[in-house]
Amino acid sequence: GRSLSVVFYYYGVMVFHSSPAIWKTHVAVWRAWRTLMTSLQSSAFRTSSGFCGSSDPSEEASSVSADKAPHTPVMLKEVLHYLDIQPAQVVLDMTFGGGGHTRAILKTAPEVTVLALDRDPTAFSLAQHLAKEHSGRVKPLLGRFSELETLLSNVNIKPGSIDAILLDAGCSSMQMDQAERGFSLSKDGPLDMRMDGERYPDMPCAADVVNTLDQQALASILTAYGEERHARKIASAIVEARRVSPITRTQQLAAVVAGAFPAF
Ligand SMILES: C[S@@+](CC[C@H](N)C(=O)[O-])C[C@H]1O[C@@H](n2cnc3c(N)ncnc32)[C@H](O)[C@@H]1O
Repeated sequence: GRSLSVVFYYYGVMVFHSSPAIWKTHVAVWRAWRTLMTSLQSSAFRTSSGFCGSSDPSEEASSVSADKAPHTPVMLKEVLHYLDIQPAQVVLDMTFGGGGHTRAILKTAPEVTVLALDRDPTAFSLAQHLAKEHSGRVKPLLGRFSELETLLSNVNIKPGSIDAILLDAGCSSMQMDQAERGFSLSKDGPLDMRMDGERYPDMPCAADVVNTLDQQALASILTAYGEERHARKIASAIVEARRVSPITRTQQLAAVVAGAFPAF
């Protein structure tokens, strides 16, 4: 039969937690998230205290060009080695991003088709651009990992017809580099951090989370997803700071977090 090669390629280390303490934390985060979603869904909350969604017109959006590489994949050689793509295979790039891996895959063998998934609309438009250059060889898919089954069936990809899968999880450089996306600490921007951009206006952005969740829930998130030893201290500093004024900018949050620690 057909052998499926899957390359999971991480920026950080993925840890599978099994201790009861960590599961308790996950439950706390899930409860906090549900509360936040419920409050955001009530229109009263959205109009009175939603913290994002209306972009500031004075905030200039930097553009991402398909001509220069917006993200340079590291370990490209190793990824191609383990994928071991053969002519005419079908490859699923689960994290298209700036398309660095997909471009390299297209060059490795003739008639390879790449299914290019990403939840970020900017990445999707780059994939559409690449699809025009390689007619029929790139199929852009806009959505999340959890929507993959539906997206594949929409483009008539049958189960068992994919030869290789690549997952390069994390953020792309173009998400980090564009201050207005709110991922950057080096460039000040609105505290946004939504990978889906404006696709789901009712979904919370980072500012909603930081200004709305209670101290315990914030600490749980920092512990569960950031493995942060000083989670409680940081959560307390955030709650103190937002009493004075809402935290709406990336560098404002960075300063609050830095202020939670005594000077070295
Ligand atoms: C490290 S970047 C990929 C860079 C890409 N390999 C390249 O060469 O340019 C990770 C990408 O995964 C996407 N992503 C993260 N979580 C996702 C999810 N749940 N569903 C779909 N895409 C996701 C992000 O939007 C980002 O563009």
